Amino acid sequence: MHTFQDMPADLIERDPFTDFGVDGALLTSGVGDRVNAMTITWGTMGVLFNMNVVTVFVEDSRYTKELIDWSGVFSISFFEGKQKSLLKYFDKVSGRKENKFKTSGLTVNEHKGIPFVDDCSFAIVCRLVCRTKIKEEDIIDSDVIAKLYSGDNKGNTHTMYVGEIVDFLAR
Ligand SMILES: Cc1cc2nc3c(=O)[nH]c(=O)nc-3n(C[C@H](O)[C@H](O)[C@H](O)COP(=O)(O)O)c2cc1C
Repeated sequence: MHTFQDMPADLIERDPFTDFGVDGALLTSGVGDRVNAMTITWGTMGVLFNMNVVTVFVEDSRYTKELIDWSGVFSISFFEGKQKSLLKYFDKVSGRKENKFKTSGLTVNEHKGIPFVDDCSFAIVCRLVCRTKIKEEDIIDSDVIAKLYSGDNKGNTHTMYVGEIVDFLAR
């Protein structure tokens, strides 16, 4: 296992727009032997309920969703260089069909009982504080519905998971 250091929030010099939207990350959840990860590019970071939080958005069909609901914890792991190509695999295959960690060769690490990917360069480990499924009628921008939630995807809105940031971990 690699060694990670806890970092205080005010020392983090990262750009969440690049980290999430451009590079993407692995969202990991579960406990013990029942751990899974999936690729994400939707995520926000800030302050809510007087806590430092990260919010991720997960569609109903994802196995990772089942694990977040079950375990109440999740993490987001960010990668550098070649390892970013692994994000394709963690999208293509569902953890319901295959143990993605076994196949990819990535390793699960744990911090305060919260699983994250040991091969990453930076991780945020969180405990779930709030979740809510986005309702179609609450989406004000009709372009969002047209582009993301119409046709086969009608009604298939994402659930927002707000996690209190337990620690930032840097390698
Ligand atoms: C670039 C990219 C970004 C993605 N972002 C998200 C996301 O933010 N939320 C989501 O629910 N699915 C997202 N996905 C799809 C999941 O990674 C994919 O459905 C995955 O197979 C789910 O795995 P699981 O069933 O093992 O949880 C994304 C896929 C790609 C390629």
